[in-house]
Order: sequence, then structure tokens, then C-alpha cells
Amino acid sequence: MANVKKRAAKRPRGGSIDPEKIRRIAILTGGGDCPGLNAVIRGVVRAAIIEHGWEVLGIQDGFDGLLDGGARQRLYSHDVRGLQARGGTILGTSNRGNPLSYPVKTNGKTVFKDVTGEIVRNARKLGIDCLVAVGGDGTMKIAQALFEKGVSVVGVPKTIDNDLEATDVTFGFNSAVNTATDALDKLHTTAESHHRVLALEVMGRDCGWIALEAGIAGGADVILIPEIPFDLGRVCDHIDKRKRTGSRFSIVVVAEGAYPAGGERIYEKKPDGSGAPGRLGGMGRWVADQISLCTSLETRVAVLGHLQRGGAPTTFDRILATRFGVGAVNLVAGGKFGFMVCLKGRKIDSAPITAAIHGIKRVSPRGQLVRTAEALGIEMGRAK
Ligand code: F6P
Repeated sequence: MANVKKRAAKRPRGGSIDPEKIRRIAILTGGGDCPGLNAVIRGVVRAAIIEHGWEVLGIQDGFDGLLDGGARQRLYSHDVRGLQARGGTILGTSNRGNPLSYPVKTNGKTVFKDVTGEIVRNARKLGIDCLVAVGGDGTMKIAQALFEKGVSVVGVPKTIDNDLEATDVTFGFNSAVNTATDALDKLHTTAESHHRVLALEVMGRDCGWIALEAGIAGGADVILIPEIPFDLGRVCDHIDKRKRTGSRFSIVVVAEGAYPAGGERIYEKKPDGSGAPGRLGGMGRWVADQISLCTSLETRVAVLGHLQRGGAPTTFDRILATRFGVGAVNLVAGGKFGFMVCLKGRKIDSAPITAAIHGIKRVSPRGQLVRTAEALGIEMGRAK
């Protein structure tokens, strides 16, 4: 009895429907795209139709598709044929215009309004019994808000950054690491031939997972991540030492969100020269310039950018995304609204969406992965 009570207390409060009464579910993809989104869509559509005979509605361009005038379409099994191998999302996505603070023009002025009420109304009008929201922390926060306003929601975690709590890994991350590792392999041969320092800037706003894993896999000499503010002197000393001991080239991986100890992150400039708040970019260039000044070595920089988000998912991501899609349908059928699918060890499990949005999953500066890098002689720039 005590156990039953404990379990009941854990169930989040919000939108709910008797799973027996479900006839139509909807799916949307929100936030920045990543490889594997289409495989999730395929998993959801196929499992919903084959296992339960539900109708599936595809919502276009994230939550925008649930606003007045938004676009949606019925998805049939043949619509998702072969999608497991295709990058991007057939539904479109948006990482601008958060419905909790949505830009609305009134009297020529832009004001920010909470438009989730409009979304709830439209979801009801469309006869959506449950919404499957696929996205990162921003999407999960919106999904949770809708759930609290009475929409039955389940979540599917995605992001190439792998920074979402409550799941061991997000789909898209493995593909991004693969792309970055491939780039490092290529930079190695040219760096070695020209005796140069090659810096590669990779994505990772607040977390260095891509930089760290690709750096280890791609044999980097220096890895700089946001979780370890770096000491430039240590980076230069390391490269100088390599030069003196006969290694006339070096490979430096820089996460876009990395910054020097006591310094700041670098944001991209808008075309008019002003800062573009929120969009990081330029730390790879800055680090390469500083290394060139302090070591007199020729340096070059490559910025991998959105190549990390594009293209076909790896086999790992195809399988994980497919399992997440089918797992999300199982959550709907089990009435586990307010939950998202997640990976725990080798098992698809579930966690309350709230567990995924209370913070972000960072690299532990003294954790096993960083220690592994340091044991290989990789310089992490750790300030003493
Ligand atoms: O998904 C997160 C992310 O990949 C970040 O690492 C990066 O800063 C951001 O997306 C870039 O997004 P966009 O160019 O789409 O605004």
C-alpha cells in the first residue's frame, strides 16, 4: 500500500486522458534540428498506427504549427518510409519564438506575450488527445507548461549538445561527434604536412561533450571546454613543448562556449558590427591567434558550425531515435503524461519532464572522461 501511494505521488499533475479513449495523437519537433529527428517521427507514426490504430497529426515548425494559422498534416505510414536515414525533420522546426514569451506586433511595436493559451485551445479544436514533443530543454520547458495547462504531453529528448538531464544520452549527439571526429582526422593530415597548429571550433554552448569526445576520438592535443575555464599560458606551453620535442604540428579543439579563466565567452557579430546576443562564435579564431602570437607557429582555424547538425544520423542515432519514437508511443498508451522517454544504461526508460529541465548536464571537470583525456597527455588548459 505504501508503495502504491509513493508511486501515485510521483506521477506529475497535468493533462490526462484515459489511454483507451485515445484516437488521435500529434507530433512536433522543436528547437535546433539534429540527425535522428526523422527516425523518431517514423517510430512514432509506425507504432501509433500499427500497434494502436491511432491517427497521427504532424505539426509543422514546432509549436508555431499549433498557433492560429499554423500548419499541420495527417501522417500515414507511407509518409515516413525510409526516414530513418534522412537528416533534418520533415515537420520543420523553430528555435525562435518561444510561446511562453512570443513576439507579437501591436501598434507597430513588438511585445512579448504568453501564447500557450492559444496553443491549448487549438490542440483541443484539432482533437489532439496527446502531443508528442521532440526537442531539447527549451522544447521540454514549453511541453511542461502545456502539460500544466491541461494538454496530455509526452516528451522525446534531442540535442547534439547532449546537455539534457535525466537521460544518459540524447540522439543526435553521436552523429555530431562523428562529424567532428571526421573533421579532426582530416585536419590532422594537413596540419602535419604544413607543420601548423589547426584549431577546430565545435558546437556546445554550455557543455563540452562534443569537444571532449571528438577530441579524444580524433587525437587532439588540446581540448577547451566551457566547464574548465582555460589558462592560455598552459595551452601555449603545451604546444611549445610539442614543437621542441619534434611534433611540429598540433590540433586544438575549442567548444564555442569555452572561455579563458577570468575572461568572457565570445559572441558572433551581426552584419552591422553589433553583438548578436545569444549566438556564440569566434573563440576558435581567438585561441588560434593567441597561439600564433605566443609560439610563432603558423595557425589556421576551422569552424564546423551547422555541419554538426546536418546530414544522415549514425547507426547508433538511428536506433536510439527509433527506440525513443516507439518508447514515446508506449508512454502515451500507458497514460504516462508529463513524462519523457530516456536512455538508462541500455534500456529505454522514462522520467518526468521536470527532471530534464531543472538544470543542464555538464561535463564533470574532474570526471572520468576528462581524466582519460589528461591521462593521454591532452592539455585541457586547466588553470592551477
Ligand atoms: O542545439 C544547440 C546548438 O547546437 C548550440 O550548440 C549552438 O550554439 C546552437 O545550437 C546554434 O543554433 P542556431 O544557429 O540554430 O541558432
